[in-house]
Amino acid sequence: MTSPTTPTDAVPRRLADEVARRRTFAVISHPDAGKSTLTEALALHAKVISEAGAIHGKSGRKSTVSDWMEMEKARGISVSSTALQFEYGDCVINLVDTPGHSDFSEDTYRVLTAVDAAVMLIDAAKGLEPQTLKLFQVARDRGIPVVTVINKWDRPGQAPLELLDEIVDRIGLTPTPLFLPVGIAGDFRGLLRRGEEGAPVEYIHFTRTAGGATIAPEEHYTPEQALEREGDVWVTAVEESELLSAAGQDHDQELFLAGHTSPVIYASAMLNFGVRQLLETLVRLAPPPAARKDVTGTPRETTDPFSAVVFKVQAGMDTAHRDRLAFMRVVSGEFERGMVVTHAQTGRPFATKYALTVFGRERTTVDTAYPGDVVGLVNANALAPGHTLFAGKKVEFPPIPSFAPEHFATLRARSAGKYKQFRKAIDQLDSEGVVQVLRNDVRGDATPVLAAVGPMQFEVVTARMQAEFNVETQLDRLPYSLARRTDAESAPELSRQRGVEVFTRSDGVLLALFGDKWKLQYIQKELPKLTLEPLVAGAE
Ligand code: G4P
Repeated sequence: MTSPTTPTDAVPRRLADEVARRRTFAVISHPDAGKSTLTEALALHAKVISEAGAIHGKSGRKSTVSDWMEMEKARGISVSSTALQFEYGDCVINLVDTPGHSDFSEDTYRVLTAVDAAVMLIDAAKGLEPQTLKLFQVARDRGIPVVTVINKWDRPGQAPLELLDEIVDRIGLTPTPLFLPVGIAGDFRGLLRRGEEGAPVEYIHFTRTAGGATIAPEEHYTPEQALEREGDVWVTAVEESELLSAAGQDHDQELFLAGHTSPVIYASAMLNFGVRQLLETLVRLAPPPAARKDVTGTPRETTDPFSAVVFKVQAGMDTAHRDRLAFMRVVSGEFERGMVVTHAQTGRPFATKYALTVFGRERTTVDTAYPGDVVGLVNANALAPGHTLFAGKKVEFPPIPSFAPEHFATLRARSAGKYKQFRKAIDQLDSEGVVQVLRNDVRGDATPVLAAVGPMQFEVVTARMQAEFNVETQLDRLPYSLARRTDAESAPELSRQRGVEVFTRSDGVLLALFGDKWKLQYIQKELPKLTLEPLVAGAE
């Protein structure tokens, strides 16, 4: 029996409950660490799919991707990252997808502005890899807590504690395992659940299923039973747990939420070992959506009237309809499809009749959403990443930072007669955040310089120039790989240096471009007075 509630507190109570049960996270990893496999495994545990292979299905991947742009089809990759939502226990989990393969782009970073936690997925044999490091840096800059999953423990690899040392040494994050592997890498038998001061609480033994297609059955044993069953390998795991405790590597919720420590789970996404433990950890320890500060620094509480931030805009996902989807993360209040909200940047009303979620090729209509949820809005022509939508009391959230570009190219229209169209298209793509646009007086407006986090952003630009604006373009890569923020005083001196160019980005920031870090270091040494500041995350 539920106790009767008065109508006045019924609505806010429900909203607060919905907020409290949400967990919104993204997986950060290097290509091939197993992100797709883990996503499948999570969906399998949440009973969204009945057999692994249904969403991305490696072998069937080419046929299951969304039909976004010819380019995407040809390359067999999915640029259309969004969110997978599922219920687990009493919780609603939103797994926001990060584009992860050769399609690494600014969008990959932007996703991290829409989540409350990140799962750092590491290949046990390879350790920390470049893309993981870059994404981790963004997570750190945003102050979001990180749960670490050491994947592929079913394969031979490093010793468990060695991997943890690498995390401490290279990124200064203190790993605090919640579960340690029983059995060396390549002989993964199960997990030791660590309790207070590293004391083993239980042994979870997993049984393999054919091809890892279904959930791996678990048996739970007491430490005494584990010793009897596994002998030395259990003793090793217990000793490792004690060593970690002696080094202070036990879970501490406050330090985790502050981004200083990271709970660790050893797993095999392929065999579904440790996947349930990850879900349990997210439910138990990851933070629910919290208030977000607006441009004035005032927090918008999750129970305030509806507000959301756009973190990604996807154009032309469906060639038949030429639609433009904007993905927003709900920050506060309840979203109901059909409600008319206000676009903070223009002050104009925005109708939300077509609201949906996209995962793989599935598009599902969303009728209601709560803080932490991701909703795609159709025909969102005026919306760009960082924009705010709200109902009721006005709010505007700060813009999403631009990330450090590492790829640069000039772009020009092949036919001079198309110049006007070309400029219009450049401005449009710039405002959508597809690519960063740079200019200087030497190069002029006919050949702007495009700056990107991943080279695929260039492909998106040239493909859209052709398909949507009917402008054939010529793209030429520039030999720069590093950008630094500078100022008007330093710019003239920098421009005189060989192999350095200074540009103004469309947000007014002055950027100096360098061929490589040695060139940058040389100039910093020779001309120490010049302003050369790192940009937000990425190339550092
Ligand atoms: P990604 O999305 O991060 O790029 O990685 P993905 O899941 O596609 O996995 C990359 C490869 O690693 C795949 O092998 C996948 O099967 C394998 N893999 C993922 N998790 C595990 C794991 O826990 N253990 C082991 N042993 N392998 C794992 P592939 O050869 O590229 O594809 P497939 O032919 O195996 O499907």
